[in-house]
Amino acid sequence: MLPLRGLNSRYGTVSPATTLRILFLQTSRNSLLMDKPKHHILLCASFRAQGTPQEICHKKESLSLIPYIESELADCGMTDVTVSATGCLNLCEKGPVLVIYPENFWYGEIDREDKIDEILDALEDDPPLALKTELSFHQYS
Ligand code: FES
Repeated sequence: MLPLRGLNSRYGTVSPATTLRILFLQTSRNSLLMDKPKHHILLCASFRAQGTPQEICHKKESLSLIPYIESELADCGMTDVTVSATGCLNLCEKGPVLVIYPENFWYGEIDREDKIDEILDALEDDPPLALKTELSFHQYS
């Protein structure tokens, strides 16, 4: 009863059906307003829906780096960064490949923790820096 009374006073007198529609729209709107991560780190795990996977990144144990990335982010207090494993990014010869959005930073041969450290250090800067080292092979802007 309380939500109906609240809606009636906010929107004037409305029918129960209209009240339900308003509640549905408010709930939908709130679910669309969820927090987005500030950065999204994608690490290739070589998945392919079709075709023969080359599995370069997977064979180089890219997935084993995800727990390290997550623990480093937690240690740095970077709670607004999400890490995901992805399908093949079609740059297998540069694998393991790591991408950071929304900056669109692409890094290759990410196979050691010290390389991850270097990338995360640069990501802490505001605005984040694109590393200009042998690790970065693409930066589309
Ligand atoms: S397997 Fe990683 S880019 Fe293709």
